[in-house]
Amino acid sequence: MTIGLEGGATLAATGIVDVASERSRTVGSAGRHYFNAAGAGLMSDDVVEAMVTHLRLEQRVGGYEAATRRADDLADVYEAAATLLGASAHEIACFDSATTALRSLFDALRLEEGDTVIAPRSSYVSQALRLLALKRYSGVKLEVIPTDATGAMDLQALDDALAAAPGRSVISAVHIPTSSGLVEPVAQISALGRRFGAITVLDATQSVGHLDIDVSALDIDALVTTGRKYLRGPRGTGLAYVRSGMLDGLGGWAPDVRGSVWTSAEEWTMDAGARQLETWESSVAARLGLGVALNEALARGQAATEAHLVGFGARLREGLAAIDGVELADPPASPSGLVTFTVRGIAGKQVSTLLREARIDSIAVPASHAQWDLGARGIASVVRVSPHVYNDDADAAALLERVADIARAGGVR
Ligand SMILES: Cc1ncc(COP(=O)(O)O)c(C=O)c1O
Repeated sequence: MTIGLEGGATLAATGIVDVASERSRTVGSAGRHYFNAAGAGLMSDDVVEAMVTHLRLEQRVGGYEAATRRADDLADVYEAAATLLGASAHEIACFDSATTALRSLFDALRLEEGDTVIAPRSSYVSQALRLLALKRYSGVKLEVIPTDATGAMDLQALDDALAAAPGRSVISAVHIPTSSGLVEPVAQISALGRRFGAITVLDATQSVGHLDIDVSALDIDALVTTGRKYLRGPRGTGLAYVRSGMLDGLGGWAPDVRGSVWTSAEEWTMDAGARQLETWESSVAARLGLGVALNEALARGQAATEAHLVGFGARLREGLAAIDGVELADPPASPSGLVTFTVRGIAGKQVSTLLREARIDSIAVPASHAQWDLGARGIASVVRVSPHVYNDDADAAALLERVADIARAGGVR
C-alpha cells in the first residue's frame, strides 16, 4: 500500500542536507531501512576507514608508538568536540560511554547527605538507577519533578524543589530522553538552577549530533554524550564538557595517571582541564573514528542537521498518526527527530521484530528503561524510530507501509 502526505509532500527531502551524498558515503544505508540512530547511528565509510587504518598501524608498530604518531589527530578530537559544542578544548574529556562520563562527573561532585539531586521524569535508566543508589546509600535527597501538560519538566515544580532544597543542589537534566522525542526546555531549567545556585549537568546523549547545541546558550555546567548515536561515531566512545569555572572545584575523587601526577608519597596534582576526569586506557582507534565523525558533523552543520532531522521526525509522525491502529507515544513537546509509537494489540518488541523481517531497523523501548516516563504513563513499551541524514524517502515509505501492514494484521487478531 502507499501512504501519501497531503499535497504530495515527500517524506524525507528537506533540501537542507544532501541525503544522496550522505548515503553514498555510508555503506550501511544500502540494503536496509535503518531507523535506529538513537540506538547506534550508522558510521560513515570514512569513520570506519580511520579506525581500521589505525588498527593496522598498531599491528605494525605497537599501540603506544601508533598513538604517538597520531597525537595531532587525537588532540583534534577535543578541538572538534569543543567547536561543535561551543566550548574550549580544555573543557572536553573523552570517555568510553555517556554513562561513564556521567558517573565520573557525579563522583567528582562528591554528593553527600543534605545535598539534593533534582531529576526529570525523562531520566535515562542508568542515571535514574545511579541516583536511586545515591539516595539509598549516601542519604542524598532525590526529587523527581513531574511533567507539565506538554510532557516536559514542570518548571514551577522545579522552582519549588529548588526553593525547598536545604543544601547544595544538582539538576540532572536531560535534553532528549531514550523513551520519546521530547525536547526538554534546557535553557529554562538551567536558568532556574542558576537563580538558586544549583549545578546543571545535562545528559545530551540523544541530542548531540541531532540538535544544534551551544553550551553557552544553554548555560549548563556540564554535559555528557555518547559517540555512537547521532554523532555517528563508533561504539565505546563518549564525551563530557565541563564548564571551565567548574573545573577547580571538581577533582580529587578518583585521580588516575591520565589526569594526575603523583608528585610525592602522599600527594598528587591534577590536570587543570576536564581531562582530570579521564582514565588512561582507551581504544585509540575508536577515538580517532569519533574525531572523523565529529568533523563530519561540523562540515554538515549542526543547524542543517537539526532542521533535516526535526523535519523528518515531523513527517514520520504525520504518516504514522494517519495509520489506523497506530498511536503516537511522543508527548506534545516533541519537536525532535526521534519518534515513538505503539501499535494496538501488539507488543513493541514484536512490532520491531516484524519490521526487522522487512529489513527495517527500529527498536522497542520497554518501561524498564524509563520507569519514571513510560512506567508512569502506563505504557509497557514503545517502538522507537530514529532517522538520520542517510535516510531517504524510500526508507520512510517502506517504514510506513510495513507499520500499516502490521497494524492491519494486528487489528484482525
Ligand atoms: C538519554 C540517554 N542517556 C544516556 C544513555 C547512555 O549512553 P551510553 O550507552 O553511551 O552510556 C542513553 C543510551 O541510550 C540515552 O538514551
